[in-house]
Amino acid sequence: MNNPPNHISFIMDGNGRWATARGLPRLAGHKAGVESLNKLVEELVKLQVPYASFYAFSTENWGRSAEEVSGLMALLEVYFTHELARLKAHNIRLRFLGDHTATSPLPQKVREIIQRADAETASNTGTVLLIAINYGGHDELLRATQRLADAGTKITTETLTAALDTAGIPNPDLLIRTSGEQRLSGFMPWQLAYTELYFTPTLWPDFTPAALHEALEWFTTRQRRFGKA
Ligand code: IPE
Ligand code: IPE
Ligand code: MG
Repeated sequence: MNNPPNHISFIMDGNGRWATARGLPRLAGHKAGVESLNKLVEELVKLQVPYASFYAFSTENWGRSAEEVSGLMALLEVYFTHELARLKAHNIRLRFLGDHTATSPLPQKVREIIQRADAETASNTGTVLLIAINYGGHDELLRATQRLADAGTKITTETLTAALDTAGIPNPDLLIRTSGEQRLSGFMPWQLAYTELYFTPTLWPDFTPAALHEALEWFTTRQRRFGKA
């Protein structure tokens, strides 16, 4: 039997389909997805899960309609502005994965709130929440290897691991993807190499703490071998 996972990753997928099935605009699905995220975070804190990562916006998601992209950016800004106090009260440490530099396509307000959330939770000692915004697995590896090459650093497992957005964070033990899709869509290709993958048809807005417990139950039945016999 496995120990409880030290790091759980989530690909929060299916918001659009959830809304469409109800005759609502896609953005209503993203708003419902935020409610789902809030409940999950409460549960993860309660379970004292050390690390949890969430895929919120990929480098490929810029390809969606201007309306959906600006709606998602506004939602991210409002979420971290309004929820920061509550997250801080839970002793949560927020870290962000992805490219948030001034040259990234992220709106300045989103970059600012990311910086603020990171700085204001830096000394918190509870659950570490990693939020992937403007994150792509290829993009992360390219940024990391370019930085190492520019500094003339030899590329080893250790130097590359330390140059990634997840520097200092243990690899995920369990990945949960909702909505029935069975792919990574660019999420943490380096870090997920030996992670147990759990796919559920449940759409993200319907993914409850009870559904998390089902996934955790499944995880205990997995035999992790890491290449050994
Ligand atoms: C996931 O839900 C949220 C983001 C990618 C931002 P989707 O918006 O991808 O929902 P579906 O997959 O279209 O149903
Ligand atoms: C992955 O979902 C990205 C996020 C959940 C943020 P997508 O909906 O963008 O992935 P694809 O297009 O189905 O692969
Ligand atoms: Mg999707």
